[in-house]
Amino acid sequence: MRFIDLFAGLGGFHVGLANNGHKCVFACEIDSELRELYKFNYGIDPFDDVTKIDVTKIPNHEIICAGFPCQPFSLAGRKKGAECPKSGKLIEHVIRIADYHSPKFILLENVPNIVTIANGTFWKYLTNSFENIGYKIYHKIISPVDIGIPQNRKRIFVIGVRKDIDKGIFNWPKTTGLKTVNLSKILNKNNIHKNLESPKTNLLKHWQKLLDQLSISELRSTSIVAPEFGATYPHNFSKLPFAEMKKYKGAYGQSLTKCKSWKEIMQRMPNYTKKKNKIPDWLLKSALYTRELYTQNSDLCMEWSKTLEKKNNSWQILEWRGKFNDLNIYNHLVQFRASGIRILQANVAPSLISMTPTQIPIIPTETRYLSPYEAAKLQNLHKLKLLPHGTVKSFKALGNAVNAKIIEVITRNLNIDYGILR
Ligand SMILES: C[S@@+](CC[C@H](N)C(=O)[O-])C[C@H]1O[C@@H](n2cnc3c(N)ncnc32)[C@H](O)[C@@H]1O
Repeated sequence: MRFIDLFAGLGGFHVGLANNGHKCVFACEIDSELRELYKFNYGIDPFDDVTKIDVTKIPNHEIICAGFPCQPFSLAGRKKGAECPKSGKLIEHVIRIADYHSPKFILLENVPNIVTIANGTFWKYLTNSFENIGYKIYHKIISPVDIGIPQNRKRIFVIGVRKDIDKGIFNWPKTTGLKTVNLSKILNKNNIHKNLESPKTNLLKHWQKLLDQLSISELRSTSIVAPEFGATYPHNFSKLPFAEMKKYKGAYGQSLTKCKSWKEIMQRMPNYTKKKNKIPDWLLKSALYTRELYTQNSDLCMEWSKTLEKKNNSWQILEWRGKFNDLNIYNHLVQFRASGIRILQANVAPSLISMTPTQIPIIPTETRYLSPYEAAKLQNLHKLKLLPHGTVKSFKALGNAVNAKIIEVITRNLNIDYGILR
């Protein structure tokens, strides 16, 4: 079948569909570098802005693909949904093109919360709009791990089937489950990669030293919040009188007794308390757990914190999301996130996301970051002739891309299921 690739990016839809023998006849991408790359990789020169497309100029096709921009809908985004003036309404143009051309299938991908955003009004708008122009809409949340690829990346896949060929059911691919994936199979330190900077290497060693000496054998989805070592302040001190507050100890057990103003007190408090004069709810359980750890290991924790690098707030929190009974950082993956140093299971990579290339996963045993080629493998885009220039641009585009293997698997039986002859 012939397809058009709207919001083409790196061409995840293109690779997936081409692997099933389908042919791209038109593409559209606003980013000029990505357009150049698309031309180089696929020999098609994409149109630029979807809002400017004259539908009559688009060649006939059987499938529309559209991975419309997801920032307005992602949890990290501003949750404005379709109200977002810039990209929230781009779906209208997919509807406009589908209305004119009536292709057999519409294939969309986005973040799962497009279903719930704005109390479901965007999702209702999307499904109603396609129903009104003659499509039956099916959707399913699929992550690469579900089909044996070691990346956690839940995305919603939406397929519109033209009502005259619809069968009342869509044949989604069978999913296999997490246990079958193994990231080590795609890792290859001989690929061009960035080494981990020495302050970060030293920091990981320092945290491991603490874990080796603590009297614990497991950590269950909790964080060690180092500034809580020695702290005694009430976890919500927003209404506490100044004189009362001075009786407590702040970050790393700093005495508040001699403070002459709230300003001086706050200089001795953990950074995460500074916004609302309390430990934020998302950190409270871990902060209390850390205080408990401290009571059992106070000398050790105090000694260890003296040499902890403190100029970076997020380096003082270890977010344990790894194996609960293996407290060796080096048997895991690591991410330096704004909230803390996150330790993750080694068999599966976290979702590659576009907005923060600083979260590129780290392989601590090899003191290096995941390479763009390895990331491309996680998106099944590693056979492209060219990726964007440089690590940051590569990760941005790969983090935006749809997983090509999922598209391949979803569309594998389209011809057979709908009796479409090639
Ligand atoms: C979520 S990404 C889709 C990536 C693509 N599915 C892939 O596999 O790489 C959205 C893309 O839409 C592009 N875009 C944003 N606004 C656009 C517009 N008005 N017209 C065309 N493309 C646009 C962005 O540059 C970005 O590459």
